[in-house]
Amino acid sequence: MKLTNETHEQKVKQATQEVEFRKKQVVDARYRLNYHFMAPAGWINDPNGLIQHKGTYHLFYQHNPYGADWGPMHWGHAVSKDLIHWEHQPVALAPSEEYDFEEENQDIGCFSGSAVSKGDELFLIYTGHVEGKSPKEVQAAASSLDGIYFNKYSENPVIEKPPEHLSQDFRDPKVWRHNGYWYMVVGSSVSGKGAVPLYKSQDLLNWSYEGEALEATESQGDMWECPDLFPIEDKHALIVSPMNMSNGKNIIMVGEMNYEEGKFTPESVKEIDNGNDFYAAQTFEDEQGRRILIAWMDTWQTDFPTKSEGWAGAMTIPRQVVLDDNRQVKLLPVPELQGLRENYQCREKVHLNSNEDVDVTRDDVDHSFEMLIDFDLKDTESYGKIGMELRVSNDGTEKVIVYYDLKTKELVVDTTAAGGDTHPDINRTKLDVTDNLSLRLFMDTCSLEVLTADGEAWITNRIYSALDNKRTRLFTEGTRVTVDKVETWSLKKVIE
Ligand code: FRU
Repeated sequence: MKLTNETHEQKVKQATQEVEFRKKQVVDARYRLNYHFMAPAGWINDPNGLIQHKGTYHLFYQHNPYGADWGPMHWGHAVSKDLIHWEHQPVALAPSEEYDFEEENQDIGCFSGSAVSKGDELFLIYTGHVEGKSPKEVQAAASSLDGIYFNKYSENPVIEKPPEHLSQDFRDPKVWRHNGYWYMVVGSSVSGKGAVPLYKSQDLLNWSYEGEALEATESQGDMWECPDLFPIEDKHALIVSPMNMSNGKNIIMVGEMNYEEGKFTPESVKEIDNGNDFYAAQTFEDEQGRRILIAWMDTWQTDFPTKSEGWAGAMTIPRQVVLDDNRQVKLLPVPELQGLRENYQCREKVHLNSNEDVDVTRDDVDHSFEMLIDFDLKDTESYGKIGMELRVSNDGTEKVIVYYDLKTKELVVDTTAAGGDTHPDINRTKLDVTDNLSLRLFMDTCSLEVLTADGEAWITNRIYSALDNKRTRLFTEGTRVTVDKVETWSLKKVIE
C-alpha cells in the first residue's frame, strides 16, 4: 500500500518530545500507580490496537501528549513481553491529514481503532475525526514494518462515510479475520439506538458494507462506542460501550455469529464490570490462544484528581476472558500478574463473631497489594454482612468497604466514607454463593479491583484515599463467620 508522509513524521516527533518533557513533571507525583499501565505524562483514554505481533505485545491508547485533559487525539504506544512490564515507545499516530487534523480545531484526531498482523506488517485501522466537518468520522489505515514508526495510507480514508441511514457518529473500527476474509465492526447508531455496522474485505483497504451485525434494544443506549466482535470457544461475543445506557456502561453479549447473513444474535448480556471506573474494554487473542481484555480504568463521568499532577487515565489489569460450562463470561487476572508478588503472608482460621472486627494490617506492605480471602459460610446466618475495610485511616473514620450482603446476595464496594478525592458511591452486583466465598483484591495507589476468585463478578473503582490511610480490617455485621484464609502479597512497582 502507498504510504505518506513527512508531516506525520514531524508531528509524531514533536508529540514524542512533548511527552519526554512533561514526564519530568510527573515522576514524583503521589498518585502514580505501581503496576497499572499509565502514559509517561498527559491524558489517556481507550486502549487501542491491542495485539501480540511477532511475539511482542503492543498496547496503543488514546492520548493527548500536550496536557492532562482530553485534546487532539494521538495514539500512544507501549510494548511488552509479558503484559505486565511495559516499555514506552514514540507516539504512534498523530493528527496530520485533512481527515484527522484541522488547524485551530481541538476536537480532532486519530480516534480509537484496532491492529492486525498483515504478514510482517503491523497494520492499524482507526477513525479520523474532525468535529464540524461532514462527514466528521471516517476510517483510516496506517502501517509499520518495524512496529515503532507508522505511516498513514496515502489513499485514506478507506471508508469515507457512514451508510446513509446511520448517524454521523461512526467510529472505533475493530478488525478480525475469519475464513480468509477480514471483517470489521464500527461503533454507530441508527434512529437513536446503538448499532454496529459490519464490513468485509480481502485486502484491508477495500471494504464492503454488509448491514448491521446488531442494533441495540430500547434500553441499551443511543450510540455504541468501541465494539469488539470475536470468536470465543464455540460462540461469538460482542462487547460494546453504550452511551447513555441507564443501567450499564460496558456490556458483553455471548451468542451466535452468522457470517453469511452478517448478523450476530445475542443469547446473554452481562455488564463486564460493575465498578465506576471501567470503559472502552477491548480484547485480542494472543499467541497462546488466550482472549485478553484490557479496559480504560476511568470513564467520561469520572473525576480526575491527578490532572493537577500532569497526568490522567490508566488501564485495568489484563484479564483473560473465558466461558464457563453454562456459556457465561468470566474474567480471570492473567497469571503473569503473579510475577509481581512478594512478601507472602497467610493467616488461617480467623473466627469473627457478630459485629466484630479483626485488624489484618501488614506494616510491611504499602499501597499496592493483592489479597485472597476465603470465607467459610456454613455457619453464617442468612442475613448480615461479611467483608473487609481497606485504606482505613488511623482514627477509623475513613475507609473503603468491600462486603458480601448475605440477605440481598450482593457483592458491594462502598466508597461513601473513603475520604480524600475518592468519588463517594456504592457499587453492587448480584452474586449467589452458598457454602463459601472467595474474594480477590488488587489494590494500587489509586485503584481497587475486586473480584470473585472464579472471575464471575468484578467491581473496579479509582480510590483516591489519603495515602496514609493504610489499615485493613475484616469485619462482620449481624452475623458470624470463619475466614478460612487471608493471603496477602505486596505487588512490585513495575510502571514508571
Ligand atoms: C470512547 C471514545 C471513542 C473515541 C475515543 C475518543 O471512550 O469516545 O468512541 O474513539 O473515545 O478519544
